[in-house]
Amino acid sequence: MVKVQLNDVEKRYGPTVALAPTNLSVTEGEFLTLLGPSGSGKTTLLNIVSGMTEPTGGEVWIDGVDVTNVPSAKRGLGMVFQSYALMPHMTIFQNIAFPLQIRGLPREEIRRKVEDVLELVQLPHVAGRKPKELSGGQQQRIALARCIVYDPSIILMDEPLGALDKKLREQMQLEIKRLQVQLGITMLYVTHDQEEAMTMSDRIILMNNGSAEQIGTPNELYFQPNSSFVADFIGQSNLLDATVAGEDRVRLVNGEIITVRHDAPLSHGQSVKVLLRPEVLHLREIDAGGNRLDATIRGSVISGSTVKHFLELDGGTSVLVEELSNGTNAAPAPGDRVTISWSVGQARVLPA
Ligand SMILES: Nc1ncnc2c1ncn2[C@@H]1O[C@H](COP(=O)(O)OP(=O)(O)OP(=O)(O)O)[C@@H](O)[C@H]1O
Ligand SMILES: [Mg+2]
Repeated sequence: MVKVQLNDVEKRYGPTVALAPTNLSVTEGEFLTLLGPSGSGKTTLLNIVSGMTEPTGGEVWIDGVDVTNVPSAKRGLGMVFQSYALMPHMTIFQNIAFPLQIRGLPREEIRRKVEDVLELVQLPHVAGRKPKELSGGQQQRIALARCIVYDPSIILMDEPLGALDKKLREQMQLEIKRLQVQLGITMLYVTHDQEEAMTMSDRIILMNNGSAEQIGTPNELYFQPNSSFVADFIGQSNLLDATVAGEDRVRLVNGEIITVRHDAPLSHGQSVKVLLRPEVLHLREIDAGGNRLDATIRGSVISGSTVKHFLELDGGTSVLVEELSNGTNAAPAPGDRVTISWSVGQARVLPA
């Protein structure tokens, strides 16, 4: 079932296009993340759904109703932002109870709901404390509790974990995901952190300069990016300049010909980019049907579980190779000559 539907929504500020006409449908219970660099239109899109930003064109539908002209408070959404905005003079209990009191619920029901939700975010013991007596991660959980206490069927979050350190962020990512699945909530989530988006989302919209560059599952964006922008933004990538030299062949700038697979029709002589993920490359030959290129080692870095090799192809192009470290890898020395190889299906051709 479609929960949220956007038909050609757009937002202009004078000559600035904050959001180009965008179509989107979000399924009930889906975790959808808006990912992209700063200024790409993530908050604009989220706020158009929330009703805090009025679109300059298009329509917003929620649960089959056109809510384009319905004020924010009447759209039945929950919202969590980067600044938790807990009220400092109130206890945690009072903070969470507040939205229920506004809705005029009976006292006993409020008490029960607040206790339930504190249990849900695993902080039943902090009800009597003030926000400043909690850690950042705990405050964020309370902000989440305050949002889910009135059972919104859709929650919008704009960079909710931005203020937390890496460990806590990762813990909260799992927590939010667990609650979202458990409660069957439809989630619209904004982040500029691609790992966070990959971990949490059913689908990701990658925003670029006010437009949706690609919409798909984390796997689709990683393994089937449809542009260099997507390949570059999601994960690490080598993007080699090349020209089409035949049905399934491209010529790199150093003149070497490599075999590729592709979905889109290519015309002879067309400029393209060849995507090679660092982890599909090997420093030795893997199979006779694969591709190989000669290169020179410029440096290697061991980062715990993996080893990164920085290479230079003959002709001068830099390439990154990432291999699992087994503790006994004989590290090549700078200046060593090596051969990199990969299986043909793992190189992806993208428009230049
Ligand atoms: N009130 C406004 N007036 C004019 N321009 C605006 C306004 N709000 C946003 N913009 C512009 O619209 C574009 C998109 O902004 P938006 O806040 O949606 O980006 P974002 O992807 O959320 O970025 P960030 O990751 O930095 O939060 C930016 O170029 C921004 O400068
Ligand atoms: Mg923003």
